[in-house]
Amino acid sequence: MLNLDGAPFVVTVAGEKGGVGKTTVATNLAVYLKALREDLPVTIASFDNHFSVDAMFAIGGSGGHPVSRLFEADAAAQATLGEYGVRFFASERQLNPPDGDTGRLAAMLGASRLGGVLVLDTRPILDYFTRSALAAADLVLTPVKDRASLVNVASLRRALREEGGDEGALWLLPSLIDARLRLREGLGVQEFLELSARERGYQLAPTALAKSPKVESLALGAARRIFPVLTHARGTLVHHQLRELANFVLQRLDATPLPRSRRLAAQGSTYRQSRVRLTRLAGGCPLCGAIPEGEGTWFCEDTARRRQHLVHHSCLVSLLGSEALNLEAVGARLLVLEKPEPGRLQDMPAFLRRYDALGRLVEEPDRVALEPAALQTLLRALTGRLPEELPATRLFLVPGATDSPDCPSGAGYASFVALRRRVLRPWRPCGDRCTKEDRG
Ligand SMILES: Nc1ncnc2c1ncn2[C@@H]1O[C@H](COP(=O)(O)OP(=O)(O)OP(=O)(O)O)[C@@H](O)[C@H]1O
Ligand SMILES: [Mg+2]
Repeated sequence: MLNLDGAPFVVTVAGEKGGVGKTTVATNLAVYLKALREDLPVTIASFDNHFSVDAMFAIGGSGGHPVSRLFEADAAAQATLGEYGVRFFASERQLNPPDGDTGRLAAMLGASRLGGVLVLDTRPILDYFTRSALAAADLVLTPVKDRASLVNVASLRRALREEGGDEGALWLLPSLIDARLRLREGLGVQEFLELSARERGYQLAPTALAKSPKVESLALGAARRIFPVLTHARGTLVHHQLRELANFVLQRLDATPLPRSRRLAAQGSTYRQSRVRLTRLAGGCPLCGAIPEGEGTWFCEDTARRRQHLVHHSCLVSLLGSEALNLEAVGARLLVLEKPEPGRLQDMPAFLRRYDALGRLVEEPDRVALEPAALQTLLRALTGRLPEELPATRLFLVPGATDSPDCPSGAGYASFVALRRRVLRPWRPCGDRCTKEDRG
């Protein structure tokens, strides 16, 4: 598969044990992948705050967009071209989860045009970010250097299962191997790790990584930059082993017709994000209380107050009339219900605006005036607040069948977010009209 600009093939380097070589593997793997296949886009990001990715890839030490952008739509545009032709996201000192939804990263990547391979380095804990990286992974590489790290793989495998990830994607990589060390009955460390891994039913990558003082010296911090093994330690065994590892990853890539994140997006509601959203939405139509299903539903989001609903088309028609809701007739895709100012509805005009799939306002008429009574009912039902207490407010409404992959209640949420972002763009420089979410 030579995937240049679709969803990326995700390689997650993870393990609960610290100091086993995760970051060394992730950063060097990115360099070797690019060196072996020049036309393949390769991107790297780390959820750790050690800045090793930046020290290896940032050209002239200059930053780039932060790794948190991976959790937003349009990640492809945010990657920065770095050293060795590898694109990267800048590490962040304090990374906060955007929400509790560990399916979000996969959803965003599934809709992204990042392409090629994305290598994700993780922290040695099973936090939100590691779990998100597991949920999105086509391949999970777990370096193990001793019994403790091997025992720890059990909880990683459990987390992979819990996140709906692919257990067959997990491969162990014996790391930091000192070939001189002999254990009981003359057993080498690598043989011991391989035997124990097989006993526990784990797959093993076709290579191991030797412990090398030369490799260790590259990340010692003597220089601000960290250099790859490819350019500064070619004489080592690790050089050949990393090349072998990169070839293994390329084989897996070639054998994967569609990256996992894209498959999930196509399947609709199989990932956790969809399930969580559908569960949250299952409370019934806020206008009549009955459960909306299939055709004849609208997805509504009150972004500022983090509320989402599925609403019956018929309930909306009774308040807004069918003409305002006939988006197809005017080539529109999204409806925005706008209360332009804080204060009482009687004192201000309120509008429905319609936008096309590119986020452009549909002209003629560019806005539909609303009856205050209808607006009152809608705002109250959809925001859960008294309309007069609301600040300037915008609600986003998109029609769609709940079982369609395009519906924002399922996998289509990422494309809804992208459209919402395009719609909000012209509003951004306008200071007090922007809510926090709009700016974010
Ligand atoms: N093949 C190797 N030979 C010698 N030293 C190595 C090798 N691989 C990694 N190291 C060294 O081991 C230490 C830990 O490596 P690294 O930072 O890659 O591990 P990590 O698993 O990412 O750690 P953490 O869990 O803290 O993020 C570093 O000092 C690194 O330079
Ligand atoms: Mg690390």
